Amino acid sequence: MKTSGNLVSVDLSSEDFWALSPRDRDSRFADLRRNRPVSWQEPIENPVMPTAEAQGYWAVVSHDGVSEVSRNPRTFSSSAYFGGVTLEVLTPALAEATQSIIAMDGPRHSLLRKLITSTFTPRRMALMDSAIQRAARDVVASVAHLGEVDFVSGIAERLPIWTICEILGLPEEERDRALVHANAMIGCKDEEYGHGDPAQALRDGVVAFTAMAFDLIDEKRDHPDDDLMSALIEAEVDGERLTDDEIRAFFILLFIAGNETTRHSISHGVHALDRFPDQRALLLGDPDAHLPGAIEEVIRWSTPIMTFRRTAVERTELGGQTIEAGEHVVLFYSSANRDERVFTDPWTFDITRRPNRHIAFGGGGPHFCLGAHLARIELRHILTEVYRQLPDLRVGTPRYVAGNFINAIGRMPVSFTASGR
Ligand code: HEM
Repeated sequence: MKTSGNLVSVDLSSEDFWALSPRDRDSRFADLRRNRPVSWQEPIENPVMPTAEAQGYWAVVSHDGVSEVSRNPRTFSSSAYFGGVTLEVLTPALAEATQSIIAMDGPRHSLLRKLITSTFTPRRMALMDSAIQRAARDVVASVAHLGEVDFVSGIAERLPIWTICEILGLPEEERDRALVHANAMIGCKDEEYGHGDPAQALRDGVVAFTAMAFDLIDEKRDHPDDDLMSALIEAEVDGERLTDDEIRAFFILLFIAGNETTRHSISHGVHALDRFPDQRALLLGDPDAHLPGAIEEVIRWSTPIMTFRRTAVERTELGGQTIEAGEHVVLFYSSANRDERVFTDPWTFDITRRPNRHIAFGGGGPHFCLGAHLARIELRHILTEVYRQLPDLRVGTPRYVAGNFINAIGRMPVSFTASGR
């Protein structure tokens, strides 16, 4: 137990905190960034998996603190053995089954990461770029005649799910089911998605994804194709192949990592461009010049992954605090990406921000996002198509999904002049 001297008045573990809007949450984070960039927090309120011994944790909210922990994996472990990397501790078995390489350390992580990156070949990525461009055009075209639509289900979620399913080789008829379970697993604390029983939503998701992954592995073993699952089955690094369980875990990680993150960055980006019309005018006035900067600012602004966790494996110092072996350390990316010491006017959406040192893809350590390039390609094509086909797009009020992990928008009404068909 920590002494009360370590406790601060900002309670990051309460459900009330996570029910606040991102802006209101950040005014509390700003207080911590100023006064206590590394603070001790009480155990999370109503955890999805109540453990026998609820642990408090160290909250790291500054840009340099998040980077320091991310770059020091020898002291700050990601291992499934400690319940994985989500703020909410999972059982080691569940963390291993669902988090794959993101919940591994050292040589095992490097080996599997190398094996996986060996399947993201430049040829595959170039093919994906033009296919994503066509898919983005088709997604927007399919709603352009409607005049109004829920942006999330009509546009934002459709490109990432299409992309990740194409990459994995998941058949079309399985995609809707996979999406429902992915939404429930991520939004498990939200009444609408988790149906009031977060742990059950998580368990159902694992069962459904396991069945899908094992069917796909059987199918691809018999009929290899030009997709990632076939490549993963075949891939060999230093004479080693992935086991079926490892492929299953990677399938779940990739499905969730590649799907939710990009979807919400698209929705937040379109929302921000609506709220900052000068930036939208700047972007549309010269897309070639401003699109790369706009994409980085959208990623910083949205920071789709708000938290990841590490576990200290030895006694260490961080931000003037002593951290004991076995204690949990939580990285608040959403706060780091609003750190006033790194970003001038962090709550101004500025597509000309240079440099834009956001750490939405991670603080630069060995787990740096494997899909960063792909996410940027998706954002480039979908933003281009949205404003090309729906030039007078107007954006309503988003509904945020409750939770402390993904900065999720569940629904967002938009309207536009319908195209003639
Ligand atoms: C805007 C979109 C995305 C954001 C903000 C994002 C963010 C992140 C973050 C914060 C991490 C952990 C970094 C760390 O611990 O240092 C991560 C890891 C990862 N991401 Fe992403 N991600 C995005 C899109 C994607 C996509 C599209 C894919 C896959 C196609 C993907 C696959 C992965 C994988 C496999 C890892 C684990 C890497 C490892 O442990 O070595 N991500 N991502």
